[in-house]
Amino acid sequence: MGKLLAQAGVPILFLAARRIGKARQAVRFVGKGRAVTLDSPQASAAPIILLTTSDSALAGVAEFLARSAGRARWTGKVVLHTCGSIPSSILAPLKRRGAAIGSLHPFQTVPSPAAGFRNLRGGFWAIEGDAKARRAAGELVKTLQGVAFRIRPGEKTLYHLAAFLVSPTTVTLMERSTRLLKKAGVPRKIAPLMLARFVGETTRNFAELGARRALTGPAVRGDWQTLERHIQALRKAAPDLLPVYAALLRAMLRLARRRLPHSLRKALC
Ligand SMILES: NC(=O)c1ccc[n+]([C@@H]2O[C@H](COP(=O)([O-])OP(=O)(O)OC[C@H]3O[C@@H](n4cnc5c(N)ncnc54)[C@H](OP(=O)(O)O)[C@@H]3O)[C@@H](O)[C@H]2O)c1
Repeated sequence: MGKLLAQAGVPILFLAARRIGKARQAVRFVGKGRAVTLDSPQASAAPIILLTTSDSALAGVAEFLARSAGRARWTGKVVLHTCGSIPSSILAPLKRRGAAIGSLHPFQTVPSPAAGFRNLRGGFWAIEGDAKARRAAGELVKTLQGVAFRIRPGEKTLYHLAAFLVSPTTVTLMERSTRLLKKAGVPRKIAPLMLARFVGETTRNFAELGARRALTGPAVRGDWQTLERHIQALRKAAPDLLPVYAALLRAMLRLARRRLPHSLRKALC
């Protein structure tokens, strides 16, 4: 995000981390700004401060920053975090010092800084917090050519759960699917590419056709014999996945407006 903002002409004044080495590494990547440690007065010197620490560190970092600089320094500033599941009220120590607090969260998966540089432009961003902080967050999203929307602070866990339900779970299912493909004789080299193409088409269909029309396969067709054979094969190849299969099949049938036949209900027990 820092690198994209820098390239868009946003002045990046300081990049702070616990260790100066990490801050320097960030400066090298972003291409702008000065490396400082979190305990440096400059860590709170900019008018807008983004806290992008891991979620569990947010409360501690906010407390630490509030303690390390006086009221005069925080008054009029905007502090934003980028966590999708925690409301901006976690930054309350900084608000008590006079800062406007808020959060902006990209609905995107960012496994590395390079991935973020590739995929954070033009995305969808959830925003909440004080009016001044929301305005600043909105400006940043606009700079990144993204779409900003308001989120209910009290429902952020639900919002985050919605993201969790489709991204890390998909990666996990794809990995388990790869193992089954290998067992079936699919060459190791092509299995991930084949899966990526398949899942890519599935997501495209979801966006273009909607959930019900994008749904294909034996559950939608009512091909119960194939589903029974799946269950038998799963019992042998990956029995730990049976509860996952059962839960997904039930949800899928609800979406397809079909009832689970008695024979299958028994097979899933
Ligand atoms: N990754 C994603 O897909 C994604 C997507 C959307 C939003 N986000 C949000 O973006 C933020 C960063 O996510 P991430 O995946 O980059 O998190 P992360 O890898 O868990 O952590 C980011 C940095 O937090 C620093 N940190 C950890 N504990 C700290 C502490 N006590 N004091 C100061 N710094 C500390 C670490 O710095 P050191 O170098 O000092 O160890 C680490 O480099 C989070 O709010 C996350 O919710 C992430």
